[in-house]
Amino acid sequence: MQSVLITGGAGFIGQNLVHAWRAAEPSDRLVIVDAMTYAANLRSLEPLIADRSISFVKGDIKDAALMRRLFDEHKFTRVAHLAAESHVDRSIADPEAFLQTNVLGTFTLLKTALEAWLAAGTIEHSRFLHVSTDEVYGSLGPSDPAFLESSPYRPNSPYAASKAASDHLVRAYVETYGLPALITNCSNNYGSYQHPEKLIPLMIIHALEGKPLPIYGDGSNVRDWLHVSDHCAALMAVIERGRLGETYNVGGGNERNNRDVVGLICDALDRAFATDASLAPRFPSCPAASGKSCRSLISFVTDRPGHDHRYAIDATKLARELGNRCSVNFEDGLGQTINWYLDHEDWWREVTSGAYKAWIDKNYSFRIAV
Ligand code: NAD
Ligand code: TYD
Repeated sequence: MQSVLITGGAGFIGQNLVHAWRAAEPSDRLVIVDAMTYAANLRSLEPLIADRSISFVKGDIKDAALMRRLFDEHKFTRVAHLAAESHVDRSIADPEAFLQTNVLGTFTLLKTALEAWLAAGTIEHSRFLHVSTDEVYGSLGPSDPAFLESSPYRPNSPYAASKAASDHLVRAYVETYGLPALITNCSNNYGSYQHPEKLIPLMIIHALEGKPLPIYGDGSNVRDWLHVSDHCAALMAVIERGRLGETYNVGGGNERNNRDVVGLICDALDRAFATDASLAPRFPSCPAASGKSCRSLISFVTDRPGHDHRYAIDATKLARELGNRCSVNFEDGLGQTINWYLDHEDWWREVTSGAYKAWIDKNYSFRIAV
């Protein structure tokens, strides 16, 4: 039985990881720490908190005293560190929070884990997993080979730079102090509970509400889409069985450009409305409700500054060493994700109320159709 700290557990990947961990290791003690920023949501965890199968602490990973108190109280032997500011466009609009949480927050957690594990004499059987991104490697050209763990760091956005800095700190703690840590660098996740500021949920929700589908630039940018369930399976494999001090890349093996992703979402919604008569009265502003294609909403808009052209992950090391391979085919995973958003209208209506509207105004009002 392990005592596990999951930071950022109320975020998109964090919530999915909590459920996956609970299902795989029911006897482990899970403690979730989350600052509950705009990106957090506790709805899916509330039943687990209520029946005490997990503990939840609202707190900031930069709060060194709180982190130390939690380590002393719960005697963690596993840390899955996911707490972060995670949206590239927000990092362009306001980079400071990214440095605070992603760099200083990670530093506070590394320092606390080291001190607490040394003081308790438990460092030998403890493990710290730092969850990072492929964006630290920069951008690929159309025919470049996919990112390897040995690819040079070339971050292009403030988000990517802050994650790169945090990866370097983890490495320094391994090399200098012998912290038993590992790093994963994964590609773009998609699936249930993803905040609607990100491409896939944003396009699904905008289409349902009959709003423009804003594709940055010409939409030729490529991402390697990874279903969040495959990502969580990889995280659990790496934290338990990965070699300490190593980095593992996690990718979906599903490279798609943004035009194609948005087109697939539109086509799937058109088909859903054509076969399920209950959708049109629920979402009357969606073009598919009146027999038109959601593709009519596509709008090419001003590009993101410094927009990375292509990400692709070579996940051979993960497969070779840990036998872990992604299993969700992109079309199937996208279909499940669209159905999840159709079935969880209350969830996304709550998430997109209030402050979310101010963000949409800030990020999209200056983007003119091109
Ligand atoms: P998210 O934005 O949905 O969730 C992040 C969570 O961290 C939120 O619940 C937020 O409240 C919490 N948080 C933020 N600042 C905090 C602080 N100072 N103290 C405590 N909690 C804080 O992000 P996500 O998509 O779930 O990503 C999780 C991790 O995976 C991040 O480290 C991110 O960099 C990495 N990652 C994500 C993707 C992706 O496609 N989503 C891809 C690669 C890597
Ligand atoms: P995003 O979901 O923000 O993830 P990331 O920037 O980490 O890759 O964006 C995915 C891709 O979709 C990226 O190339 C930017 C693009 N994009 C749009 O074209 N329009 C949008 O409104 C958003 C949010 C993203």
